[in-house]
Amino acid sequence: MNHSFQIKNAQDYQVAYRKSIEAPELFWATVAATFSWRKPWARVLRWDFRKPEIAWFEGAQLNITENCLDRHLQAQGDKPALIWEPNNPSDSARTFSYRQLAEAVNECAWMLRNNGVQKGDRVCIYMGMVPELAIALLACARIGAIHSVIFGGFSAQSIADRVHDAQAAFLITADGSYRGNKEIPLKEIVDEALGSCPFVKHVFVYRRTGTVPNMQPGRDLFWDEEVAKVHAAGSLFFPAEVMDAEDPLFILYTSGSTGKPKGVVHTCAGYMVWTTYTFVNVFQIRPDDVHFCTADIGWITGHSYIVYGTLCAGATSLMFEGVPTWPDAGRFWDIIARHGASIFYTSPTAIRSLMAHGLSFLKGKDFSSLRVLGSVGEPINEEAWHWLDEQVGHKKCPIVDTWWQTETGGIMISNLAGVTPSRPGFATLPLPGVKPVLMNEKGQPILGNNLSGNLCLAAPWPGMIRSTWGDPQRCREAYFTAYPGYYFSGDGSLRNEKGFYRITGRVDDVLNVSGHRLGTAEIENAIGQCPGVVESAVVGFPHDLKGQGIYAFVISSSEQDASLYEAILNTVTDVIGAIARPDKIQFVRGLPKTRSGKIMRRILRKIAEGDMEHIGDITTLLEPAVVDEIKAGRA
Ligand code: WTA
Repeated sequence: MNHSFQIKNAQDYQVAYRKSIEAPELFWATVAATFSWRKPWARVLRWDFRKPEIAWFEGAQLNITENCLDRHLQAQGDKPALIWEPNNPSDSARTFSYRQLAEAVNECAWMLRNNGVQKGDRVCIYMGMVPELAIALLACARIGAIHSVIFGGFSAQSIADRVHDAQAAFLITADGSYRGNKEIPLKEIVDEALGSCPFVKHVFVYRRTGTVPNMQPGRDLFWDEEVAKVHAAGSLFFPAEVMDAEDPLFILYTSGSTGKPKGVVHTCAGYMVWTTYTFVNVFQIRPDDVHFCTADIGWITGHSYIVYGTLCAGATSLMFEGVPTWPDAGRFWDIIARHGASIFYTSPTAIRSLMAHGLSFLKGKDFSSLRVLGSVGEPINEEAWHWLDEQVGHKKCPIVDTWWQTETGGIMISNLAGVTPSRPGFATLPLPGVKPVLMNEKGQPILGNNLSGNLCLAAPWPGMIRSTWGDPQRCREAYFTAYPGYYFSGDGSLRNEKGFYRITGRVDDVLNVSGHRLGTAEIENAIGQCPGVVESAVVGFPHDLKGQGIYAFVISSSEQDASLYEAILNTVTDVIGAIARPDKIQFVRGLPKTRSGKIMRRILRKIAEGDMEHIGDITTLLEPAVVDEIKAGRA
């Protein structure tokens, strides 16, 4: 595909940026004109952050899958759309051309429709990283159903919460999934979750591991058997449902500062335009690129840059089922060589973990296909940046440090590979359409440079969050009330003299553990469900590999022994999933609280960091003596 909106040099970037800010409607209308629409828009943008109300391309009709698939068939039907690398390197990889992927999506769309899934229905998807996961997303989009992907590492209770919140009557899963030397019994976990969800009408089960799952008659259906029925019925082509621009495309749950994860809602047209525009420009896409994004489709990075943006742009997406360290820590490098990956987009956590395994795993590997490297999900430390640059990129590949969030739909602040300058530790410049503002403690914009503040966005962009599912008020409170008239990201940032942004991390009660977002309140709720726990307070602390580790201070009513320690870990695994298990638990007699009962997390954070010198004023505490006790007992 030829992308007329592709920025070609630094001056082009300046021009595009200026146009996007001065005349956003004209700018985005020009970009949007390159997509395939059933009906053009009546109005490009309508917005009011105080409500919030955001509508892009209102009046337009489309189906995102016609843009991801159908429109490529004539010119490049035989081009690989999706390459899948299995968990076990001795198993065969699978490649889907654009034509084959379109067929698989159409089949799956029929499977869903024949079993009663209608436009607007919510479909939860809980699978491992198999091609059928990407196919399931696209099939939902094709029939106008709203997908809600649940990361394969979440627990039964997390699934049940999400199925309830979205009132999803359908779920797509697999018998199991492979990750390294582990086999995860997905269907068993789903069965446990659905015990409390009697309204679920059908569960579609893809066979991956071949273990025989328990099938509830009438409710549970095997994917292959349903697809066989579609074939037997004849016509495979599924006419795409015609969607309004602002119809929801999907829900994706993410953690915030309050207890319950919120369902971020993205809509059809704006998300499509934004993910494609950012994909093409940040990675500077070429026709023969093989884009290897190591994220899981259970997170926004996988939605936007394995599935939607990548396929809309007509590129080749390489997805991997397994883990970076199995059978050994050279796996990513083998995959890059095996499939000729030209772009490698990963997380700082993955890089740090591979660094820790030493250079022997990189010896003799063929990195010659690589052209661009990318980082996402957390601040990248300079050591990891240089390691990636030298050991993987051999100093020939630009590194893009891409800052964005589930809520932003796509990349917001990043250098453009080889086009705009990079600087280790800095995400650098905003993409066209993005208007970052740093706020001081008084809620005023910081105008000078080399200063830090809370990162807000002053203007809407097409891919932004539209609502939180079932509770629009929550969307308003979480993002639009702290700084009226602005979207507040929850991140802190510095801006240097060149106008480059350096993201310094969350300023709210959200942790970023190995690039996974977790709310401290969410983890505290889980710990509180463990018998014997009276109260807990969770904070983050710097962790060499994970970026941030989880430190829990716990008041218990019972014996504080190893069995309680284990019980807390197990409870957290059951309630949320293994990703939320605390790295350290310290049993305490009391927590540092103000006289009004508020926990002073600032103090706990300092103790968790081991920075005993800068604890600050504790005289306003209800019981200042607990601080010394906690310091003395640091885990
Ligand atoms: C963090 C992931 C520094 C940030 C796409 C943000 C980053 C949160 C970067 C969103 C980056 C993401 N540099 N920090 N390049 N990218 N973050 O919703 O704290 O899973 O708010 O989306 O990750 O995480 P989420």
